[in-house]
Amino acid sequence: MPPRPAHSKFLLIISLLVLILAAILSRTTTFFPRLALLASHLTTTSHPASSLTTKSPIMSAPSYEKELKVAQLAVQRAAILTKRVFHEKAKGTVSKDDKSPVTIGDFGAQALIISALKANFPTDEIVAEEESATLRTDASLRDQIWELVKSTKLDDPAAEELLGGSIKDADAMLDIIDLGNSKGGAKGRIWAIDPIDGTKGFLRGGQYAVCLGFMVDGDVKVGVLGCPNLPVNDSAPLDAGIGENQSDDEGRGVIFSGVLGHGATSRPLGTGALAEGKAISMKPIKDMTQASFCESVESGHSNQGESAQIAQKLGITRPSVRMDSQAKYGSIARGAGDIYLRLPTSKTYQEKIWDHAAGDLIVREAGGQVTDTTGKRLDFSVGRTLAENKGVVAAPAEVHDQVIKVVQEVIGQK
Ligand SMILES: *[C@@H]1O[C@H](CO)[C@@H](O)[C@H](O)[C@H]1NC(C)=O
Ligand SMILES: *[C@@H]1O[C@H](CO)[C@@H](O)[C@H](O)[C@H]1NC(C)=O
Repeated sequence: MPPRPAHSKFLLIISLLVLILAAILSRTTTFFPRLALLASHLTTTSHPASSLTTKSPIMSAPSYEKELKVAQLAVQRAAILTKRVFHEKAKGTVSKDDKSPVTIGDFGAQALIISALKANFPTDEIVAEEESATLRTDASLRDQIWELVKSTKLDDPAAEELLGGSIKDADAMLDIIDLGNSKGGAKGRIWAIDPIDGTKGFLRGGQYAVCLGFMVDGDVKVGVLGCPNLPVNDSAPLDAGIGENQSDDEGRGVIFSGVLGHGATSRPLGTGALAEGKAISMKPIKDMTQASFCESVESGHSNQGESAQIAQKLGITRPSVRMDSQAKYGSIARGAGDIYLRLPTSKTYQEKIWDHAAGDLIVREAGGQVTDTTGKRLDFSVGRTLAENKGVVAAPAEVHDQVIKVVQEVIGQK
């Protein structure tokens, strides 16, 4: 064999160098985004308020634009259905003590939300509160719900088309309701739905919320709350009567949303295309004695005696604002209230993930901190319940430690 000419050796070396360089480059580009994600995760978990200000392109978390839009429109459409039921109830077509309006609204809203999610994200899993078993043995109830579901539409054709997933008939609706049977967990894309959170508030004419949270690998990425009976005005003060005799008249109805690493917003709850959103943030507490706190109306949901003691120890003088549902999370996120306490009433009760996923993210993205009563972050990765947590304490990040300390003193658990 003749010896290789010198220039061919040179070419060989150059191409080897190019290959090595390419290998190094491809490693770094796959490595950097992970590093960026980790860094942004660390900053958003330890300093939630800073996530709004420390944003450079490489540091920013995924924006989940499509998930957010579908979630907001799905919540808005489901809220149209719950409002129709709410008005039927107000007219006295069904008795106030009768649970059926809740049942009808719950199943109907769940069917509408799941159909929109499955049309857009067919392989995602869904954790939802209701299952259709009772409807399968009650044809009249089923037909009532079906009439509502098939006639509830957004009045914007493009929005309706985006949601898609029109349901064929009443039986298909039952099957769709049962798609909310995921066990949840720490892997994959999972949605958590509470079609009517605050059923007692819904019946009482107080606050209720249509709730949707989106998780990836057990971490909440997108949260949306539709609150038909809260004031649209983010600055409207919370008064003690907010928990009953409310309406969804002019000036009421709000959607709160949050995306991890991208802040929280509120916008009017409409009937078609989404209204313009506004950034919201928690109100800094300058003087604890002037703070207000929110808790459940139902004493079975939170220990009201202990929360009164906690308020007293913190020097809070204003009476607590009681309202049902995740409307509490939305209210403190926009600074209408300051602190949300949910103190365990039983040793065995486990909070459900659909009752907290959206609210937890929205408050954290608005500059708050949300933990359980021991100061541990809520863990959405262990199934359908928050099995690793007890109660909830949500407060502006700068006073959260102080609140937890007093909570610990009063309820004495570690
Ligand atoms: C919102 O509420 C605040 C406080 O009550 C009030 O000053 C303001 O005028 C309201 N804004 C609108 C647009 O109604
Ligand atoms: C709500 O309405 C009921 C029945 O009309 C009434 O008894 C109750 O006092 C009202 N509550 C408030 C806070 O106005």
